[in-house]
Amino acid sequence: MRLRRYLLRYRLIIHRRPKLQKLFRIFLILIVGFLIINIVNGVLFSTILFFQEDIHEPDYDLDTRPYYRTIEMTKRFDSSGNYLLVQNFVQYQSNLTKNADLLALNLHTNIENLHLLLNHTKVWDGPISLSLYVKGTRASDDIDYASIWLRCNRRLFKVLNVHLVMSAKAYEHSISNQRNSHSVKYAVSCHYVTYINHTDETDSTPYPSNLLRNIARLGTTPSTVQYILALDIDIFSAPDLFHHLVSFYTQSKSTEEFNRTLYVIPSFEIHTDTVKRSAPLPQNKRELTLLWNDNQLQPFQADVCPTCQFLTNYQAWKQETSNDKIVPLFRPHYSQPWQPYYIGPKDAPIYDPRFKAHAHARISQCCESYVAGYDYSVLNNIYLYRLGFLDKSQLPNTELIDDDTSVLLFDQFREDLSKRYLNSTRKC
Ligand SMILES: *[C@@H]1O[C@H](CO)[C@@H](O)[C@H](O)[C@H]1NC(C)=O
Ligand SMILES: *[C@@H]1O[C@H](CO)[C@@H](O)[C@H](O)[C@H]1NC(C)=O
Ligand SMILES: *[C@@H]1O[C@H](CO)[C@@H](O)[C@H](O)[C@H]1NC(C)=O
Ligand SMILES: *[C@@H]1O[C@H](CO)[C@@H](O)[C@H](O)[C@H]1NC(C)=O
Ligand SMILES: *[C@@H]1O[C@H](CO)[C@@H](O)[C@H](O)[C@H]1NC(C)=O
Repeated sequence: MRLRRYLLRYRLIIHRRPKLQKLFRIFLILIVGFLIINIVNGVLFSTILFFQEDIHEPDYDLDTRPYYRTIEMTKRFDSSGNYLLVQNFVQYQSNLTKNADLLALNLHTNIENLHLLLNHTKVWDGPISLSLYVKGTRASDDIDYASIWLRCNRRLFKVLNVHLVMSAKAYEHSISNQRNSHSVKYAVSCHYVTYINHTDETDSTPYPSNLLRNIARLGTTPSTVQYILALDIDIFSAPDLFHHLVSFYTQSKSTEEFNRTLYVIPSFEIHTDTVKRSAPLPQNKRELTLLWNDNQLQPFQADVCPTCQFLTNYQAWKQETSNDKIVPLFRPHYSQPWQPYYIGPKDAPIYDPRFKAHAHARISQCCESYVAGYDYSVLNNIYLYRLGFLDKSQLPNTELIDDDTSVLLFDQFREDLSKRYLNSTRKC
């Protein structure tokens, strides 16, 4: 009613003033013209977008500002004050197949090895949560590279959550003044994205492996995830591992058992010669055994710390070939320094962040899980691998099992543990 009255009044005014009517018409034509141009624009633009989505990987302009805004808005210090954490720095979501959202992979890496993520996404059809560590005075260049690389490969990710962890030094020197930077836009050609090594030695903040593991665990989505496999970025899953694990966990067995058992997946090292000869990597346990008999493969850490994997009992595992299904083979009683890779419930004890690049970083968590009441069980038929036999000379001192700092820290850890689990009959 009111509107009509307004219109009426308007018409009256127009009648009285023909000049205004003319102006009104011109105005109307202008608006319609503007609308048409807009529609044409929209159609064109979306077609361009559509074609770009279709092409292998498009060139695009990367605007880094949103990434740094995310950092500023969500950053927080860890409890030591030496690291800054940005949970959910970048996220990719797509629909998963049935039950694929039950298991998640947790990974951690530095910027140099980020590209290995693709080897995981090829075989892991469930959610992945990754902690990325950057340090040094050129940290913002590393962050730019990571954002570009992730965006360029985004179609290979099903559900991926990337968390950024940076040394406080790096933030101070390289990020906190980023707002004044003028080069916020890059023209990117995905084809040419490569990592440029500008590691500098001025930032000696150590690689916080356990903190990174916890951040990846904490940032695991979706909430349907019940079981987590935590790996280092250079340890890879057998091709069929994910689907075997899904069927293992969805069989009709009681979840009570699943809730307090850590299922060990035997891990191996494949000789670099095999890789250099471009011989195919093993696709299953049978092929793996052939390579093993040929001395092209050995149990993980066989040369650097055989006791670290001893309880997995590789020989017994090798001989067990009777079953096609995934079944538990044996349940070793934990004793340190066993540090198997395992898949277990997401509420298993977290990692003690006092351990950084230390030999006892994972040992401490395996040990605490045992004291907290979790049992270990070794699965048949599935396995993990890394490329290259580990050699003592490749490892930093702190990662050797007899390193004084690592041993001292572990002694302290065990003392704290006995105070925290007063009622536990288990010791390690
Ligand atoms: C994902 O699943 C939702 C609901 O199940 C559906 O509405 C949506 O279209 C799906 N998206 C894709 C890309 O398949
Ligand atoms: C990772 O993927 C790349 C590219 O496909 C391949 O060259 C490399 O050998 C893979 N590494 C492993 C450990 O599978
Ligand atoms: C990067 O440079 C550092 C220091 O010069 C060096 O230690 C490291 O091995 C290099 N990394 C690669 C992947 O070349
Ligand atoms: C196992 O753990 C899940 C989640 O942690 C919980 O929802 C479920 O009730 C537990 N099942 C048993 C039998 O304890
Ligand atoms: C240990 O057991 C005692 C008595 O059984 C109980 O009062 C106490 O709360 C328990 N402590 C812990 C840490 O569970």
